[in-house]
Amino acid sequence: MSDTVLSSLTNHQFRLASRPVGLPTRDNWSATTEAVAEPEDGGVVLQTLALSLDPAMRGWMNEGRSYIPPVAIGEVMRAGGVGRVIASKSPHFAVGDTVIAGFGVQQYLRLGAAEFKRSGLVKIDLRMGSLTQWLNVLGMPGMTGYFGLMDVGQPQAGETLVVSGAAGAVGQTVGQVAKIKGCRVVGIAGGKAKCDWVVNELGFDACIDYKAGPGAVREGLKEHCPKGVDIYFDNVGGEILDTVLARINRKARIIICGAISQYNATTAVAGPKNYLSLLVNRARMEGIVVFDYADRYHLAVLEMAGYLKDGRMKSKEDIVEGIAHFPEALLKLFNGENFGKLVLQVADE
Ligand SMILES: NC(=O)c1ccc[n+]([C@@H]2O[C@H](COP(=O)([O-])OP(=O)(O)OC[C@H]3O[C@@H](n4cnc5c(N)ncnc54)[C@H](OP(=O)(O)O)[C@@H]3O)[C@@H](O)[C@H]2O)c1
Repeated sequence: MSDTVLSSLTNHQFRLASRPVGLPTRDNWSATTEAVAEPEDGGVVLQTLALSLDPAMRGWMNEGRSYIPPVAIGEVMRAGGVGRVIASKSPHFAVGDTVIAGFGVQQYLRLGAAEFKRSGLVKIDLRMGSLTQWLNVLGMPGMTGYFGLMDVGQPQAGETLVVSGAAGAVGQTVGQVAKIKGCRVVGIAGGKAKCDWVVNELGFDACIDYKAGPGAVREGLKEHCPKGVDIYFDNVGGEILDTVLARINRKARIIICGAISQYNATTAVAGPKNYLSLLVNRARMEGIVVFDYADRYHLAVLEMAGYLKDGRMKSKEDIVEGIAHFPEALLKLFNGENFGKLVLQVADE
């Protein structure tokens, strides 16, 4: 792209204006614009095509210690995404390359060579999966599901796995990979449509609609896990975690991936009451952070791109169009409106 075109572009951004209490509102964001500058020597300018909207974004809006520093007030909101190189002074990237990177909620990103690694900038191959599949099964949520299941869950054929958030981004990968590895797979999701989809389209053995009424999870586990639960992949925490803990087998593995039921709590996070079930069953509960597996992502991508190709795996994304809709789109994660991996389409492919 020539200098004149670059300098004619305006970068629309969303910055964190204040820290939310409970669910984020429009007031927590400020919409800003910036000019787009030429890349520095060795650097690139990227155009955002699609952004990954993740439950973790809610945590990054809070102050306090976590596995990654919080987003500062006034900073462009952190977000992973896929995009295209539109200007390059780097020997490693050419104009037109499709890449994955920490774009932030903005339309353009100017990166110096020294920032490539920190922003996770890598080229992607669209023959392995579509742009949005690279944010889902082949992207960060897919890596989370794959490594959480394989490294911590250590599934054995014939075991029973339960996964909550079953129709979501991480959940769909976990359940499908566990089926491929020979497990009995029972999902937990909100509503009939999501439950029907994971059973009929993804091939889960059963799915429990946790919104069906009080006792639905307890009864569902009794019915669909007659031999107990060997692996629980927890995406939601809260009461569902407690209910599954009451059904685990000896030497069960519980993967603490997330606790979305707690992310907007205005009171203390509710911890598991049934933790003594770990003692009785000589079981273990272990947390995972996907970034710890970064040096092995390429192996999981190869394996799952193979499953996508041979039809053993499906990848469902829920796409919201237009960066202006970012504040409302993010909320879909917390009211369960997203059906599949939530993606914000920022520009046409
Ligand atoms: N540890 C890591 O490295 C890592 C990396 C990525 C993601 N995660 C975690 O993995 C989990 C899933 O993330 P995702 O990106 O795959 O999101 P997702 O499942 O695609 O979307 C979030 C889903 O959570 C469910 N949900 C919302 N509020 C809930 C509540 N109060 N109780 C039960 N379910 C609720 C909703 O589904 P229903 O309609 O079924 O309720 C919603 O669709 C999150 O906890 C996230 O923080 C962790």
